Amino acid sequence: MKRVMSGMQSSGTLTMGNYIGAILNYKKLQDDPENECFFTVVDLHAITTPQDPKLLKEQTEAVAALYFASGIDADKSAVFLQSHVPAHAEMGWIMNTLSYMGELERMTQFKDKSQKHQESIPSGLFTYPTLMAGDMLLYQADIVPVGEDQKQHIELTRDLAQRFNQRYGETFKIPSSEIPEVGARIMSLQDAKKKMSKSDENQGGFITMVDEPNVIKKKIMRATTDSGNEVRFDKEEKPEISNLMTIYSCLSGISIKDIEKKYDGLMYGAFKKDLVDVVVEQFSPIQQKYKEIRESGSLYHMLQQGAEKAHAVADRTIEDVKEKMGFVLPVNKLKK
Ligand code: TYM
Repeated sequence: MKRVMSGMQSSGTLTMGNYIGAILNYKKLQDDPENECFFTVVDLHAITTPQDPKLLKEQTEAVAALYFASGIDADKSAVFLQSHVPAHAEMGWIMNTLSYMGELERMTQFKDKSQKHQESIPSGLFTYPTLMAGDMLLYQADIVPVGEDQKQHIELTRDLAQRFNQRYGETFKIPSSEIPEVGARIMSLQDAKKKMSKSDENQGGFITMVDEPNVIKKKIMRATTDSGNEVRFDKEEKPEISNLMTIYSCLSGISIKDIEKKYDGLMYGAFKKDLVDVVVEQFSPIQQKYKEIRESGSLYHMLQQGAEKAHAVADRTIEDVKEKMGFVLPVNKLKK
């Protein structure tokens, strides 16, 4: 059996980038019976930037419901909230003590995010990667499905795991990232130099998984396109149409080459109109299921079921780690 572990923040709703870069891969990995999957909503990571408490609660429930609505199955995978398993915070702290300032300062995501906060950079933003390392290592993950922007965080996790193993004896598996070949970095619909992100001030730059069909249509029809008319994939020369073609390909299963053939001699407008249908067809059934889950109240039970599976693995790892490091274990945890 292989362990699969990944997570999404609840600092906003999910975008098409989250869906294509991560959730599509979660589903693929979940459906392989050789894998045991743990998918979490990382609410502890979400508070590394200030959150409104009411909104955080709503968004956390929404992200969890979107996992299930997308086809993550509570009976096949453990879906849980990070804050429901306190070992995450504990392991995050231990990883803090193992990491160096210099290596955290090199994290490109920290450099990007901290620019927005200027003088008052939350220290949680700086130690975000150590909490994330703890997430993976708690489950002894073999495979971590993520988009391209997380690669550096997983490399740091590998370094920290190796450092721990060297210092305290073989404890952690060394996780590997699984990044999709196509769709690992979906770009903004308004600026192909920027990653599609829910925190983009320009609402037209991203499509959320709960956008209504008319909103999806407006955003795609208004998406910026390169000069010329040809529907041809060329990331350097035609980054904007190439981004739209990537989205089309990932959601329809049609290869980029076949998309080029299909739209040979046609203009951007015809391609965009079809792309609207592809996106709406993908998200409509998910949105329907999402509504049902939110209305049924089943979410809390499914999350409880996930947390129990997560506890069983995470609690074992944290005890082992603490014992190796020389902590005095409580009497009921002492090995006979
Ligand atoms: P988050 O919430 O920022 O992103 C969740 C996942 O979505 C992917 N992603 C994208 N993929 C392609 N194109 C995009 N435009 C795009 N935007 C986001 C991200 O790469 C990610 O896979 N730090 C993690 C959360 C986390 C985690 C973990 C992941 C916390 N602990 C342990 C794996 C394992 C993050 O990026 O969240």
